[in-house]
Amino acid sequence: MASLPTTHRALVLTDKSLPLAVKTLPTPTAIHGSAVVEIFSAGVLSYHREVYNGAESHAHYSLPTPLVTGMSGIGRIAALGPDATALQPGQLVFVDCMIRARDDPETAFLLAIHDSGTPGSRKLARDVWRDGTFAEYARVPLENCVPLDEKRLCGELGYDVHDLMYMDYLIVPFGGLRDIGLEPGETVVVSPATGGYGGAAVMVAVAMGARVIAMGRNEAELARLKKHVLSGSPSASIETVKITGDETADAESLKAFGAIDAAIDFTPPKGASSSHVKSVVRAIRKGGRISLMGLNENPIVPWLVVSKNISLKGKLMYEREDLVSFAKMLKTGLFPRGKHLVDTKIFSLEDWKECLDVAAEHTGIGRRVVFSPKSSV
Ligand SMILES: NC(=O)c1ccc[n+]([C@@H]2O[C@H](COP(=O)([O-])OP(=O)(O)OC[C@H]3O[C@@H](n4cnc5c(N)ncnc54)[C@H](OP(=O)(O)O)[C@@H]3O)[C@@H](O)[C@H]2O)c1
Repeated sequence: MASLPTTHRALVLTDKSLPLAVKTLPTPTAIHGSAVVEIFSAGVLSYHREVYNGAESHAHYSLPTPLVTGMSGIGRIAALGPDATALQPGQLVFVDCMIRARDDPETAFLLAIHDSGTPGSRKLARDVWRDGTFAEYARVPLENCVPLDEKRLCGELGYDVHDLMYMDYLIVPFGGLRDIGLEPGETVVVSPATGGYGGAAVMVAVAMGARVIAMGRNEAELARLKKHVLSGSPSASIETVKITGDETADAESLKAFGAIDAAIDFTPPKGASSSHVKSVVRAIRKGGRISLMGLNENPIVPWLVVSKNISLKGKLMYEREDLVSFAKMLKTGLFPRGKHLVDTKIFSLEDWKECLDVAAEHTGIGRRVVFSPKSSV
């Protein structure tokens, strides 16, 4: 393995009251339990800008500062701690931002995004896993490196690493849909489907062999969603239903497509008063399962949940096994490729301001923004 350079470039948050800055820092070294990954692509969220600029709306995203910004990424193993047994130098890996305490399954946090606020997660975010992936090199836990079959994915299937980065969106609804045991052939409602994670949920449900009913307020975006899915998966079974705000009428619109087995919801806080989850509860069959992944505090017609034996499951992100399964699914070729999967906009670290601004706008199904800290793969 080539030796690491002594320094590298990283996008640093010194304090939420100050602008980000690209700085030259000492390159991290591999200690026990860690890998140093050379980062080729790092995913940018639609609200990354607000997490780092001190916006009131995202004040609850507590973080230790200073830190290297970032979240999940894709790169090549550049150095391994002495206790690595399976990972190999040079291997292409997905770097998962979900850091879990090794001695407490209940302690977890999002790398360089949110320290989760518990004493244990705060300690890990502050003292051990502080720095993220908006950098040429990142030190991450060994178990957060999920190998990607480069020969198959980038060779035979022709995926670009930046397009593969869309997997950090896709993996989230995969976690929720697996959690409620979605089966091929089942009908699943995705609501609202016009956002980043909702759109990803539609693509994942189609790849899992389900029939999808996508709900949303914006008819033009629903039409774009359907077109995007059918462009990459012409035989997909996909319907759309507009959220009108009329709970029973929207339930009837859903029922028009026959028995509904399952649903997944990504309603953000600002949509908490929307009636669409209640419509889903009205429309779903007896024994239906609903994965709740958004932050929706709306009561969900409790008497119908009881009388119809509906299972409601909250889900934060996904488990590590979900990631491993997802990587297998990807390499079987179940997802579309190229622009049929995702339109990715790529930025250098130096162009961070434009990158974060574009990320806030370039959202919805098949849209992704990434940093490319290292230009060559
Ligand atoms: N559980 C987890 O692990 C997990 C992981 C990631 C994200 N999330 C959560 O998922 C939610 C969505 O995230 P995102 O990044 O996909 O957001 P996003 O891209 O901003 O999408 C927001 C979606 O909500 C819809 N919406 C907004 N206000 C609405 C209203 N009043 N009534 C009905 N629909 C409304 C939008 O529809 P329009 O197109 O009509 O505006 C859009 O479809 C957030 O709460 C986020 O925290 C959870």
